[in-house]
Amino acid sequence: MKPLLLLVAFLLTPRAKAGEIIGGHEAKPHSRPYMAYLQYWNQDVQSRCGGFLVRQDFVLTAAHCHGSSINVTLGAHNIKQQERTQQVIRVRTAISHPDYNPKTFSNDIMLLKLEREAKQTSAVKPLSLPRAKARGDSGGPLVCDNVAQGIVSYGKRDGSTPRAFTKVSSFLPWIKKTMKSL
Ligand SMILES: *[C@@H]1O[C@H](CO)[C@@H](O)[C@H](O)[C@H]1NC(C)=O
Repeated sequence: MKPLLLLVAFLLTPRAKAGEIIGGHEAKPHSRPYMAYLQYWNQDVQSRCGGFLVRQDFVLTAAHCHGSSINVTLGAHNIKQQERTQQVIRVRTAISHPDYNPKTFSNDIMLLKLEREAKQTSAVKPLSLPRAKARGDSGGPLVCDNVAQGIVSYGKRDGSTPRAFTKVSSFLPWIKKTMKSL
């Protein structure tokens, strides 16, 4: 895998209502085909996060997006609708970074192995990044100059800066090793 460089753009904060865009604008449909929408159970509450497809069967997200029964929706433009482009795939295995610290948000990174490979379409494609500069959403990627370099870790609920990102490049050895092991 070539080094993932800089970062991203999902515009939901952890507690924003699904589909609500904060401090952003509506993206051109499917212009970011690597974006993933995650739904999971966190102590009986359905929660959501962003993530991004890094291989047909792997999604990278933030470790704070952990929970049970994680489902990944790919190829969505409007998550509130059932769109023909959407692929919903369950997560088989979720591996958080072993040194993730929920108090400090250090090592806030998690790999999700999907139950099956995503079908590559014009709406679903692993991270081959379009030119984009944007702020990201929880678990989503930070994309800059065609490279994914960060994962949105935390920030203010209204989506304003400053927000913190997990630097992807420093975790490449862990990402590679973990992907090989699954
Ligand atoms: C994920 O999908 C499965 C099967 O459709 C469902 O049983 C489960 O509750 C879903 N998880 C969430 C968090 O919605």
